[in-house]
Amino acid sequence: MIDIKRPILSQIKEMVKDIPGWSPIDQLYTLFTICHLTADLEGDIVEIGSWCGRSALVLGAAAKLLGNTKVYCIDLFPEKTDWKQNQDGSYSMNVVIENENYSAYHQQTVWQEPFEKDIAPLYQEKQGILEIFMESVANNQLDSWVIPYKGNSANFIKSIDNNFKCKLVFIDGDHSYGAVCQDISNMDRYLVEGGWICFDDAFSYYDGVNRAIEDKIIVNNNAYELCQQMTRKFFIARKKKANKKLEN
Ligand SMILES: C[S@@+](CC[C@H](N)C(=O)[O-])C[C@H]1O[C@@H](n2cnc3c(N)ncnc32)[C@H](O)[C@@H]1O
Repeated sequence: MIDIKRPILSQIKEMVKDIPGWSPIDQLYTLFTICHLTADLEGDIVEIGSWCGRSALVLGAAAKLLGNTKVYCIDLFPEKTDWKQNQDGSYSMNVVIENENYSAYHQQTVWQEPFEKDIAPLYQEKQGILEIFMESVANNQLDSWVIPYKGNSANFIKSIDNNFKCKLVFIDGDHSYGAVCQDISNMDRYLVEGGWICFDDAFSYYDGVNRAIEDKIIVNNNAYELCQQMTRKFFIARKKKANKKLEN
């Protein structure tokens, strides 16, 4: 549990120290801070792309402090046999969920070196990423706040009801242009006025992420405002409708 009277950065560091993944502490700190921009908004938090839970724990810890907020973590949560090596040595995945095939990392593949160094060893002890994720959440007593969903954003929205409201969407799944556009379109309709979308790896090395943000959010969409970039997180808010003038 985060103690707001102690430095947050060191508590985040401690919380994720044994959780495999790539999200650095400064970026996790940014995410934690963004959650607090949503304090007076209704709705929950949705994360697309959770891996073993580094960012999910930080979002969950913030949700616990905010109260009345859950974090839905959408991921394909691949098992060992879901990964396939491509001719150039890089890796892609195909995950079967309830007889449906979901593929990822086909355009933006996972390079061989990080796969063999960081991903393959995880499967030596555990069957799949979901198992590691659930363990991370349970070890931090965040089970009541962090809810995993095995699938993609398209399935997720079929599983929720029409009244679902979201105040923060964190997009860190497949970084290809098509997948990011899909994630935006699927979640955008549930975002409350003043709610935030946050993109991982924005305006860094992933052309698909950059183009999706530009095409879907910035260039052709005047529903958003207040964009900011901190570390590699780019975040932007859904515009609030103009307040009606108060009549005397
Ligand atoms: C970079 S990792 C996420 C890292 C995580 N946010 C963290 O802080 O550790 C990307 C994740 O996206 C998942 N993923 C890839 N394509 C996806 C898709 N179409 N829908 C949902 N999750 C996807 C992968 O299984 C992987 O767990």
